[in-house]
Amino acid sequence: GTTRHYKFDIKLQTVTRLCQTKSIVTVNGQFPGPRIIAREGDRVIIKVVNHVQNNITIHWHGIRQLRSGWADGPAYITQCPIQTGQSYVYNFTITGQRGTLFWHAHISWLRATVYGSLVILPKRGVPYPFPQPFKEVPIIFGEWWKADIETMINQAMQTGGAPNVSDAYTMNGLPGPLYNCSAKDAFRLKVKPGKTYLLRLINAALNDELFFSIANHTVTVVEVDAVYVKPFKTNTLVITPGQTTNILLKTKSHSPNATFLMAARSYATGPAAFDNSTTAGILEYEHKSSVSNTKNRKPSVLKPALPMFNDTIFAMKFSKKLRSLASNKFPAKVPQTVNRRFFFTVGLGLIQCSRNQACPGPNNTMVAAAINNVSFVQPSTALLQAHFFGKSKGVYTTDFPANPPFKFNYTGTPPSNILVNSGTKVVVLPFNTRVELVLQDTSIIGAESHPLHLHGFNFYVVGQGFGNFDPKKDPANFNLVDPIERNTVGVPSGGWVAIRFHADNPGVWFMHCHLEVHTSWGLKMAWVVMDGKRPNQKLPPPPSDLPKC
Ligand code: C2O
Repeated sequence: GTTRHYKFDIKLQTVTRLCQTKSIVTVNGQFPGPRIIAREGDRVIIKVVNHVQNNITIHWHGIRQLRSGWADGPAYITQCPIQTGQSYVYNFTITGQRGTLFWHAHISWLRATVYGSLVILPKRGVPYPFPQPFKEVPIIFGEWWKADIETMINQAMQTGGAPNVSDAYTMNGLPGPLYNCSAKDAFRLKVKPGKTYLLRLINAALNDELFFSIANHTVTVVEVDAVYVKPFKTNTLVITPGQTTNILLKTKSHSPNATFLMAARSYATGPAAFDNSTTAGILEYEHKSSVSNTKNRKPSVLKPALPMFNDTIFAMKFSKKLRSLASNKFPAKVPQTVNRRFFFTVGLGLIQCSRNQACPGPNNTMVAAAINNVSFVQPSTALLQAHFFGKSKGVYTTDFPANPPFKFNYTGTPPSNILVNSGTKVVVLPFNTRVELVLQDTSIIGAESHPLHLHGFNFYVVGQGFGNFDPKKDPANFNLVDPIERNTVGVPSGGWVAIRFHADNPGVWFMHCHLEVHTSWGLKMAWVVMDGKRPNQKLPPPPSDLPKC
């Protein structure tokens, strides 16, 4: 592979959306940020220079980071933040991956405006396992707030209130024609008839899973999270924050006299308020002789039909359609046996407020989110440094529970005690552990889908279902042949999902809900994967410019 160099200058930029102008944190003044393009096997070197008042880190979402955990990016997990005036060079090699990923800020809520696509092409001369597209187009979904996002989240965390829902969803940074004051701010995709387009969809929204559909067009899903899948046709997609989906769009053979909207809106199952608005882009067919079409008749605008905002059944059906290619060239390396089994509950609860907080909940409590009833407390120094230099004392403890502290009917009546604990706890895994992890949604404050993201690994989704996971019956139905391989999976609302991964990458790996508000509330934990015995099984020492806390 070759080496690709990028420079990311973190700086402020004024941007106008929905008729309001504000100053946002950007990379190189661009919103969305610059696209990174590389090939499988390439080394990517990105120098990040921080020119703003906020501390920052950048995460390369979905990149395996084999032996390069220092470049992963989550603040206080693998690195201390890059402070004002400082810089840090992220340096990693893309091994065994090709497809669509993205990068985003990984501190506080800065990823609201600091994100961009990361496209990994196959090695030179290696074709896609599907028809070569005429053109490739990244489409990145986001959310837009009129208010200053950092101020909003800081206030929300101090007062225990929920942050405001966003003012718009966006496609490539643009809300689109269905919002007031936004008719011109629409993403337009100009297409020729009778061609195949590869759309690289990325959900970079902060807090919403999305349904996506293109009016009057059926698409073929060919890849998710930079892993090829068995192609299948659909009219509507489900895409959670943290997930990417590549689809083939075959355009109609003749230019129709119509404009087709490509639209996305929330798939929301939680008890919290949500934004029921729709972002839309415009699919525009090229018209060679425009006389008859544009002068005589205005083209009609067609909108796609999207499922109801809470259509959990649709989401589950869509998720079950996804299968690994499991071919000779792209085998599914599902661990057939496991060394360690974990059962983690994910959901919301209440936490006792500390003395310096304004507290809105009953009995001096506020909303928190937890895994196995532990709400993760962000440490004051990076876990990876503490681990690597043997200085974990006072930073983290290794007693993250393998099972919830008490069992109850997770989809029915909440337990009498809905208070969660807190701590900076990790699970330590010996090198090469084959892990099975069942993630169970709890309905303590309402059932809710949680897009769980694991850093440093792809995992296989071997099972999923509604209701309580049954350790006696459900494993018999696990798919160990062609389960989907990915880095972010929706734990179904009122249900469970089972994943397997091979802990072959030493380092400290964050796992969290990719709904940013849940991460802020503590729905996160970390795995510490130990070095192996051989030299190529060890994490090298950190680069000399690694930021200090
Ligand atoms: Cu895309 Cu830890 O995040």
